[in-house]
Amino acid sequence: MIKKGLSNLWSIPFYYSEFKNSNKLNNELTKVIRDIDVGLNSKKSYKIAGLEKGLTTKWHSYNFLDIENKNVSTLKIFIKNQVKEYFKKLGHKNTSLMYQSWANRLKEGAVLKRHSHAGPYSYISGVYFVKTKKSSTIYHLPLDTRIPGVEDFCETKIEINNIEGGLVLFPSFIEHNSTPTQNNEERITIAFDILYTPPLDKFHNNFNEKVVSIF
Ligand SMILES: [Fe+2]
Repeated sequence: MIKKGLSNLWSIPFYYSEFKNSNKLNNELTKVIRDIDVGLNSKKSYKIAGLEKGLTTKWHSYNFLDIENKNVSTLKIFIKNQVKEYFKKLGHKNTSLMYQSWANRLKEGAVLKRHSHAGPYSYISGVYFVKTKKSSTIYHLPLDTRIPGVEDFCETKIEINNIEGGLVLFPSFIEHNSTPTQNNEERITIAFDILYTPPLDKFHNNFNEKVVSIF
C-alpha cells in the first residue's frame, strides 16, 4: 500500500569496480585501439553523441571485445565477471544475453554529448576507462529527460570521476555525457551494451552488421 505524499519507490542501480594494476593492460589496449582506429577508416560514420567523425562513429561496425588479442580477452573476462556480479547483486537471473562493444578515442577538448544507449534490445551498458586525465562522466536522472523541449534540465545529475582501470555499469536508459577532454590528452574508453532480447537473427544489429555475440 502506498502512503500519501512523496514515496521514493525505486533507486537506480550502478555498479563500479576496478581492474587491479591496470597500467600494463591499458597500455596494450591503447595500441590495439589505435590500430583499429586506422583499420576502420573506410567504415561509414554515423553521428552519435554529437560526434560526426572518429572512432566512436564506427561503433556499429565491429565488436571490440571479440578482437583476437590476449589483452582484449583479459578485459572481456573481467567485464563478463563484473556484469555477472552486477546481475547477481540485483537478483536478476539472465540466461540469454548478447553483447556488443566498441572503443572511443577523444582528443583536444572533444566531448560525448548527452546520450543514452536505450534501444529495443539494450538492457545494461558499461564503460571501461583505458586512458583518461581529469575527466568525468555525468549521469542524469531519467526524470530530467522527460520534460519536452528542455534539453538541459539537469537538476539531479551525478558526476563520477573517470579513473584508468575503472568500470562503470548502469542501466542503458540512463543518459550521460562526458566532460571535455583535456588539451594534449587522449581519452580512451571501451563501451558496451548487454542485450536482453536479441535482435532479428541474434547476431546482426540495426545497421545490418553481424557484430552481436552471445554473452
Ligand atoms: Fe555512452
